Amino acid sequence: MGSITADTVRRLPKAELHLHLDSGFEVEDAVRLATENGVPLLKEPPDAMFDWEDLQEFLTFLDWVLCLPRDAEQVASLSYSVARRQGRSGVSYTDLMVSPIHWKNFDGPLEEFIAAVASGLEDAERDGYPPVYLSISISRKHSRAEAHAVLDTMLAMQHPRVAALSIDGNEALVGRTGDRFAPVFKRARAAGLGIRAHAGESSGPEGVWDAIDLLKTQRVDHGVRSVEDPELVEELVERGIFLNVCPWSNVLLGLYPSRESHPIRTLVDAGARVTLNTDGSGFYRITLEDEYVTASEVYGWSSDVLRQLARTSVEASFCPDPLRAELLAAIDAFDFGS
Ligand code: ADE
Ligand code: ZN
Repeated sequence: MGSITADTVRRLPKAELHLHLDSGFEVEDAVRLATENGVPLLKEPPDAMFDWEDLQEFLTFLDWVLCLPRDAEQVASLSYSVARRQGRSGVSYTDLMVSPIHWKNFDGPLEEFIAAVASGLEDAERDGYPPVYLSISISRKHSRAEAHAVLDTMLAMQHPRVAALSIDGNEALVGRTGDRFAPVFKRARAAGLGIRAHAGESSGPEGVWDAIDLLKTQRVDHGVRSVEDPELVEELVERGIFLNVCPWSNVLLGLYPSRESHPIRTLVDAGARVTLNTDGSGFYRITLEDEYVTASEVYGWSSDVLRQLARTSVEASFCPDPLRAELLAAIDAFDFGS
C-alpha cells in the first residue's frame, strides 16, 4: 500500500476535538487586527512573534494577541476564520475551546463575547463550512468564584452552540487545582453540559488523576504525561477515557524534543482511546491532515489505525447524535485507495 497523502486525509471524515479559538485563527488575521487597531507588533518581522520556547512564552504571546479584538464583529470574524480553516482540512465537526480570560479588550460582558464567537460559527455554517461547537474554558488561574461566574453565564444563556465547560492554563505555575474546580465541574455536569480538562501537559500524571477523579471528566486534553505512571495508563484504558493529543504542539512548546520521542504510540499501543488534534492550527502553522500524515510516517501507522483515530474523534465529540451516526458510517465506508 502506498503512503497516505494529505489529500486522502482531507477526504476522510473526522472531528477535531482539541483546538482553541485563542490560537486557531490565521496568522494574517492577527497581523491585520494589530494594524487596524494601531497596535505595534510585538516583534518584527511578524513571523518572529510565532517562535516560542515553551508554554509560558506562548501564553504570554496569547495575552498580547487576544487583546487586539475589541468588538463583536472582530471576534466573529476570527471564529469564522477558524471554521473556514476546518473546512479546508476536511474536518467534519469541531469542538472549539475559547478562553475568555485572554480577551481583555473586548468591549462588553461575557454573554456578548460568547454570542459574538457563536455568530461567526453560525455564519460560517450557513456559508457551507463544517459545524463548530463551543467549549467555554475557565483558566487554572481563576478563583473558584470566578469559575462559577463563567458557568453562571453559560447556564443563563443556554446558547445552542455551547456544548461544554473546559479548563486550560499553565498547571506548572499554579499547582494542583482539582479541589478548587471540582464543585464547578459538578454543577456543569448536573446541568447537562459536556466537560473536558487540560491535564498531563504542564502537569504530570497527578494532573490527569485529578482531572478524572476530581473533575470527573471523560475527556482529557493532552494527557500525554500519563505514560509516566503505568497504573494511570491502565486506569485510562479501563475507564475508556479519551485523550485528545496534539503531537506537534507538544514538540513546538518544548515538552518533547521530537515526534519520534513523543509518547502517543505508547498510549495507542496500550489501548488508550486517543484522538489526533492540532491544539492551535493557525498560530502553530500546521493542519490536521499534516498531523495524520506525519503520524502515519513517523509511527508507521496504517490506514486502519488512521480510520480508528478518526472513529474515536467522532465517538468522543460533543456533536449532535444524528451527525455522529452519519459520520461513523461514512468513516467505516471510507476508501483510502491503494
Ligand atoms: N491554552 C492554550 N493552549 C494551551 C496549552 N497548550 N496548554 C494549556 N493551556 C493552553
Ligand atoms: Zn490545548
